[in-house]
Formats: sequence, C-alpha cells, structure tokens
Amino acid sequence: MSSQHPIPSYLHPTETGPWGVYLEQIDRVTPYLGSLSRWVETLKRPKRILVVDVPIERDDGTIAHFEGYRVQHNTSRGPGKGGVRFHQDVTLSEVMALSAWMTIKNSAVNVPYGGAKGGIRVDPKTLSRGELMRMTRRYTSEIGIIIGPDKDIPAPDVNTNEQTMAWMMDTYSMNEGRTSTGVVTGKPISLGGSLGRREATGRGVFVVGCEAAKKRGMNIEGAKVAVQGFGNVGGIAGRLFAEAGAKVVAVQDHGGTIFHSNGLDVPKLLDHVARHGSVAGFEGIEATMATEDFWKVDCDIMIPAALEQQITVRNADQIRAKIILEGANGPTTPEADDILRDKGVLVVPDVIANAGGVTVSYFEWVQDFSSYFWTEEEINQRLTRIMTEAFSSVWQVSEEKNTSLRTAAFVIACTRVLQAREVRGLYP
Ligand SMILES: NC(=O)c1ccc[n+]([C@@H]2O[C@H](COP(=O)([O-])OP(=O)(O)OC[C@H]3O[C@@H](n4cnc5c(N)ncnc54)[C@H](O)[C@@H]3O)[C@@H](O)[C@H]2O)c1
Repeated sequence: MSSQHPIPSYLHPTETGPWGVYLEQIDRVTPYLGSLSRWVETLKRPKRILVVDVPIERDDGTIAHFEGYRVQHNTSRGPGKGGVRFHQDVTLSEVMALSAWMTIKNSAVNVPYGGAKGGIRVDPKTLSRGELMRMTRRYTSEIGIIIGPDKDIPAPDVNTNEQTMAWMMDTYSMNEGRTSTGVVTGKPISLGGSLGRREATGRGVFVVGCEAAKKRGMNIEGAKVAVQGFGNVGGIAGRLFAEAGAKVVAVQDHGGTIFHSNGLDVPKLLDHVARHGSVAGFEGIEATMATEDFWKVDCDIMIPAALEQQITVRNADQIRAKIILEGANGPTTPEADDILRDKGVLVVPDVIANAGGVTVSYFEWVQDFSSYFWTEEEINQRLTRIMTEAFSSVWQVSEEKNTSLRTAAFVIACTRVLQAREVRGLYP
C-alpha cells in the first residue's frame, strides 16, 4: 500500500499503520485535483512533529515516564486544531494520521483551521486522579512551545474530557502569566466552554445520519442501529437515534458486546456506563455476543465510534447495514471501503460524520475571543446548518465525479487546503 511512498525514517517502512491508510486516501483523491496536484506532496508529510518525555512522580513515590506527541499536519488555512488522546496504543503513526484527518475535516466543513493532534501513550485507567493531573500538566507544559490560541488549539479525544481541558488551560495560563481560555476547546462551561460542545460530535453524527437516511429512502423511526464505542461520540449518537424512534439493537465497547432485538433502553444503558465504565453487566439485554459477531448484526445503520481500523477485509463483507456513519476517526481501511462500495453500503466518512465536535469547538473559540456566549439553541441550529450543508456539498461532488463520499469529501477539502498553499506561496 504505502510502500510506493517515501516513508520517513521515523516510521516503520512497511508497518505504516493509520498513516499508511491516510496516504492511500490521498492517492485516491489526487487524480481529481487538477493543476493543484503539483502541491499534493505537502499533504503527505506533517508540517511539525513534537515528541516529548512526560515524567511524573507516582503516588507511591516512584517515577514514571510516558511518551507524548503533538503533531501539526498543516496550517495553511489557519492554526492547528485537533484533540488529545490518552491510550496505551497511541503511536506516532496514529497521531500523524489523526492530525492529517483533522486537516481534511476542518477544510471539508470550512472552519478556518489547519489540522493537528496529540496523544500520550498511557492507559489512564491505571493512574489515580492526582497522577492523571500531573501527567496532563507536564504534557501541556512540554508542548506549550507550539500550542496557543492562534497557533494550535487542542480539544478532547479518546479518554480525555472537560476536566483534562481545564487542567491544560490552567497549565498554559500559568506558564503564560495570564488567563488564556482560547488555548483549548471542550472546556467546562464555567471556564469559557460552549453549551452543546459535549454533545456536538454525537449530534453531528445524528444530523448527517438523518440526511444519509433521506437519500436512501430510510425512515429513522424503527431503523435498527448498532454502535461500537459508547463514550462521548457513540453514547450521544445512540441517545439521539433512540430519541428519534430508532432501535439501538447492539452496542460494543472495550468491556463487551450486548444485543437486544427490540432495542436497548439507551438512557438506562448510559446510566450504567456512567456508573460502571462499560456496557458489560447491563441487565436489560437479550444476549451478549462474541466481539467479532458485532459486525454481523442485523441492522440498518452501523456507527463505528471507537478506534481506527475496525472495518477491514476481515469483516467488511459480513456487514449487513445499509448506512455506515463513521463516528470514530479512520475506522474503515481503503480495502474495506471498496468491499462496502461494491455491496452498495453507503459510508458517510469520518471527515464529515464526526465534524460536529470541531464545528462547535470553533464556536467555542469564537465565543472565547469575543467573550460573548451564545444560547444552546443558537449553537445547535448553526451546527445543524453547517453539517447539513457540508453533507449536501459532498453528496453533490460524489454524484458529479461518481466517487465515494470519502473521496468527494477529500476533493473538497484538499482543493481548499492546496488553493491556500498555492496563493500563500512557499516561504522563503
Ligand atoms: N470526542 C470528540 O469530540 C470526537 C470528535 C471527533 C471524532 N472523535 C473520535 O470518536 C472516537 C471515539 O471518541 P470519544 O471521544 O467518544 O472517546 P471516549 O473515550 O469517550 O469513548 C471511547 C469508546 O470506545 C470504546 N472502545 C475502546 N476500545 C475499544 C475496542 N477495542 N473495541 C470496542 N470499543 C472500544 C470505549 O469503551 C468507549 O466506549 C475516536 O475515534 C475519536 O477520535 C471524537
């Protein structure tokens, strides 16, 4: 796959991971970029990578060291923007790919940002609250030389939340000697966070899901939905689909897979997850399932909302859903994309489907700058309009060019980024 590409010396030459998936997606869009394709190499290498050592003193007095990253993939259209992930499997390849998908996403929905991402290779469940805070603060301090409200603005991702953002904002502010609310988004409301931000990614998944269902002539009421990952994104999306009358028949998270043919009670399930940390042990189920059987579930809409590279050549053929809404970043490999397309499954790609989070992050940043805060109704209306318009533009390009929605989204996004690159010109 990616062996045709010059792989930087700091990545494994053949095991390129999610970065290899991203490179192949860029190859697929290049023929549609016309004269701008002469700039395409700029998308195949991150602008800036910072790898940091994050040492902390543990509660028992020992010293632990963690690997931390911040990658700024592209800043042609504005400051870097993208989440911070705490996970034991974080790698440089993953953070590079996630930062690149942020470049594409921010451009596809036309918010004035480049793409960035960060992460720490750690299982946060093994740390106490105090250790987690010290690790977050030291990481923020280490990457402080490249982040800032007009340089690069982090946000929550897997295993990070409003509290993480509050610690990041406080650490950056202490180092700067002034309170800087605009340095991160996804903050608590009391610190300049935005109403609607916590739900925004899941809400965006729901909004584009409704648009995709209209195109397929599918009724949301009564539709069967399967969700992988029941955290911020999957949990909220599942709740909104259930509220609209859909039946959430299967849910999988890191602890297990549960099923009910009449639909799980989503509010009760969310409450269970909040108390126990996983869907495992939830009582209102018909059956539990083996991990791999999740992909074979009889459903109309499937929402991968956990991690990358979940839908692959191993399971794509088994999927029975008519629509896939990519809540997660990078859940489908290019080979699986082809299988799904041949089967007539409509895949709404991550760079559109989960763009609701960064869209409301943009609203939060604008509100912080102006110190004037909008109502939740205003935020949800503006979010719905941006998501609906973005979906409609991508749909139109996919029809004109007879491509998948992913390639169409990449055409729109890469064109905007490379036009900005071209008109700015190369420095010096
Ligand atoms: N939070 C956001 O605003 C946002 C925005 C855009 C995209 N995303 C993407 O959405 C995905 C989920 O992010 P989140 O913020 O909801 O994270 P989260 O930490 O709130 O939830 C992650 C969920 O995935 C599950 N999970 C982890 N490993 C799993 C595995 N091996 N198999 C099945 N389930 C597993 C966890 O149990 C949990 O339910 C990620 O790909 C993230 O990059 C998040």
